[in-house]
Amino acid sequence: MSEIKFIYEKSSPLEMHKVRIVQKLNLIPVEERLKAITEAGNNTFLLKNRDVFMDMLTDSGVNAMSDQQLAAMMVADDSYAGSETFTRLEDKIKEIFGKKYFLPTHQGRACENILSQVYVKPGSIVPMNYHFTTSKAHITLNGGSVEEIVSDEALEINSDNPFKGNIDIDKLKALIEAHGAEKIAFVRLEAGTNLIGGQPISLQNMKDVYKLCHDNGILVVLDASLLADNLYFIKQREEACRDMTIREITRAIADHSDIIYFSARKLGCARGGGICTSSEEHYLKMRELITLYEGFLTYGGMSVREMEAIAVGLEETMDFDMISQGPQFIAYMVDKLYEAGIPVVTPPGGLGCHLDAKSFVSHIPQSQYPAGALAAALFIVSGVRGMERGTLSEQRDENGNEVYSNMELLRLALPRRVFTLSQVNYAVDRIRWLYDNRHLVGGLTFVEEPKVLRFFFGRLKPVSDWQIKLVEKFKADFGDSL
Ligand code: F0G
Repeated sequence: MSEIKFIYEKSSPLEMHKVRIVQKLNLIPVEERLKAITEAGNNTFLLKNRDVFMDMLTDSGVNAMSDQQLAAMMVADDSYAGSETFTRLEDKIKEIFGKKYFLPTHQGRACENILSQVYVKPGSIVPMNYHFTTSKAHITLNGGSVEEIVSDEALEINSDNPFKGNIDIDKLKALIEAHGAEKIAFVRLEAGTNLIGGQPISLQNMKDVYKLCHDNGILVVLDASLLADNLYFIKQREEACRDMTIREITRAIADHSDIIYFSARKLGCARGGGICTSSEEHYLKMRELITLYEGFLTYGGMSVREMEAIAVGLEETMDFDMISQGPQFIAYMVDKLYEAGIPVVTPPGGLGCHLDAKSFVSHIPQSQYPAGALAAALFIVSGVRGMERGTLSEQRDENGNEVYSNMELLRLALPRRVFTLSQVNYAVDRIRWLYDNRHLVGGLTFVEEPKVLRFFFGRLKPVSDWQIKLVEKFKADFGDSL
């Protein structure tokens, strides 16, 4: 592995909050963990939470909420139409993003459904830094196709590029020239690019993309679901933004996008979603689909309590202390793993820590889902539940052939303010043990394979008895300890 220049401070993370409500965890014995993952078809999505010790599946809807959010939930106005709660959320969106119109939805993918139905036509192209599973599914369902135009370096596991999520402007220019602007439904920018390891986009890149798109009459749509981490990285890593407040950076980002949508299961630390824009024309195009698919315009499928929590959560996202916790814990975990020689995506991004399964279990071919196999193995040896982000998360092509993913990652999400540093250290220790015993990990094969979003419900089995051998070795090394 090459020498990496990390772009974060190496000091120990320091939480600027204290814990006031806790949830009891279970750490079940290793044989029971094997039984649980077998019953779950070796798919961590199908595990029961009672069998999980550290749930690092996702940060979606599971970030810790603040006392202020809980308090606000108590004063929600649940009128069907014209609720005060909606007005409070709409006002907060206007204040933070400077966008006049807000359309509420039940979660992020609902926004993607509406955007795709309105703007994507058969044959349309949607260039983006990188796809997210649900965004791509909605675009292709409407007959469009996705073009990923991050720089080549973004797909390298180790790099010292602070903004691996940036769009490659030359690739975007070439796409516009090759297909013509009319074919492009919109350009989608994903803050905190999820599938390549939570890697950020710089403000400068957003400005460059916006200028090029506007010169060519192309819409810019920002997926702000992972904006909180991206804001932190812009302030930390982008020289020109060092003296800007988080609020100023947020506004500058918003000023360089035509439409912003987000999953409030991530942004705002609650559960819900929404779309905002300053254009009446776009607002009117999307509005009727909200009432058709989501709910009336003043709740959009969300509980009003969650809407109150989102309004407060968005305000809290403007606090640098609040948004620092996630990236700092992730950097700590990445650093510990990297020092131990374990293949992990660098520089550390947002969302979580991403193990490079292609290298971790390099003996497993992509046809046997190395990242999925690593997820099952890690659960067996630790009770830590991660999420496969590799070939399993792809869909077969129209001829039924596997589409091998560029990266085979095991994502270990760090929901904000949820885990302690000792729990992170526990996860690191078990990953180190697994790395030392990696030759014992084998591949997986499908038993039941759904056609769409197969990673959610698909069931797999090990290609050999490798899981039994892994448990035997674990017991030989750890004895009776869990
Ligand atoms: N966009 C991004 C960048 C996301 O990470 C997600 C969800 C969505 C859109 C869809 O939002 O779940 O509210 O419908 N990511 C979750 C995850 C599922 O675990 O990374 P949603």
